[in-house]
Amino acid sequence: MRCTVFGTGYLGATHAACMAELGHEVLGVDIDEGKIAKLASGEVPFYEPGLADTLRRNLDSGRLRFTTSYAEAAAFADLHFLGVGTPQKKGEYGADLRHVHAVVDALAPLLDRPAVIVGKSTVPVGTAAELAVRASGLAPAGDAVEVAWNPEFLREGHAVVDTLRPDRVVVGVDPTRDGRAEALLRELYADLIAAEVPFLLTDLPTAELVKVSANAFLATKISFINAISEVCEAAGADVGALADALGHDARIGRRFLGAGLGFGGGCLPKDIRAFMARAGELGANQALMFLREVDSINMRRRTKMVELATRAVGGSLLGSTVAVLGAAFKPDSDDVRDSPALNVAGMLQLHGATVTVYDPKAMDNSRRLFPTLTYATTAIEACDGADAVLLATEWDEFRSLEPADLDGVVRSRVIVDGRRCLAADRWRAAGWTYFALGSKADG
Ligand code: UGA
Repeated sequence: MRCTVFGTGYLGATHAACMAELGHEVLGVDIDEGKIAKLASGEVPFYEPGLADTLRRNLDSGRLRFTTSYAEAAAFADLHFLGVGTPQKKGEYGADLRHVHAVVDALAPLLDRPAVIVGKSTVPVGTAAELAVRASGLAPAGDAVEVAWNPEFLREGHAVVDTLRPDRVVVGVDPTRDGRAEALLRELYADLIAAEVPFLLTDLPTAELVKVSANAFLATKISFINAISEVCEAAGADVGALADALGHDARIGRRFLGAGLGFGGGCLPKDIRAFMARAGELGANQALMFLREVDSINMRRRTKMVELATRAVGGSLLGSTVAVLGAAFKPDSDDVRDSPALNVAGMLQLHGATVTVYDPKAMDNSRRLFPTLTYATTAIEACDGADAVLLATEWDEFRSLEPADLDGVVRSRVIVDGRRCLAADRWRAAGWTYFALGSKADG
């Protein structure tokens, strides 16, 4: 089959490469010429394990190409995926749909034969129906252009495997139409369906809502364990052991019960806020009031980390030297959007600490976003002369740090484990003062 993918960020680039991997002919489209040139030459403009191999293999086979030309894209296929970003609006909770609208407004006037526009971006419920009216109004083919919604559930760092072996494929269609969109998407995903990936057909608003509900649930699960973590800290209990015990209940499950610095990134934080905003517009805001608490529990983890750091350096950050290990919002990613690690580093600096940050992959993005922080080229260099070392993103490189690696490097042997990923006993046995979010503090 042939398809196009509009938007070549994390979502679009991965989707384009993976659809080609499934054997389809794919054209990736973006207005950013630099990005298109990179992708066309086999270079992924962000860090995503495994994506470069998939990209190159499919460029070489000729199944995958990239262009900036909407006219070429409109002529190439009748199945067009929307994979552009829907960031949080500046100063507001709602989602900014300008990129989605821009694609539809530029593409639809070029559609002169039946076509299906398939949304993958995360959008407020009701967007698909609105786009359907907009697209058929602008398209020479009129009503023969329809909109379907096929939300994406991939995680950064696991994007390729999540796309090729998803837990489910959700497809929302307009039930008053003739079934063409469903048939095309069943054909596109035939290999996944054959591999027994559940294919769930819904109407448009349900498909849009599945996506935001899934992210809201994941965020709620993390904030739930972080709320329990606050009680554990006060009561001297251990939230890790508690989460293990909870997780054995199959109804609860252990995943996403990782207590610590909480969630960040380009999805969970903005999605729960956009969900609340949209529910408010629909007059259903009371139903989602708890998400406000989910958000504030999450933000409290960051201030709690700053408080722990303050204790760790002896009561005042002013004039202290702090190493922050990690800048990406999670390991195996170079994404620093709404990163708890960088947020904490920024707060420490505001409180008068000299902060040096190191991350294995996210240094360029961090420098761009937080140019006033100091950056080191290795973890050891970041810890040089530190009064306290803060672990903010649980990269394997940091998990495998040995206390001896930092002896003679730091000024004080004090470590704050914001992701609960170090063996506390080993650090304590080596003479370190070990603090962790979710446990009663040493100091
Ligand atoms: C999330 C969802 O997991 C994906 O299913 C979804 O497709 C994606 O958003 C999206 O909407 O595009 P992602 O943002 O890549 O994926 O990251 P997650 O792996 O979900 O982690 C989110 C944040 O939660 C990270 O900051 C991570 O450190 C934190 N987290 C995760 C915890 O604090 N504790 C946990 O137990 C798990």
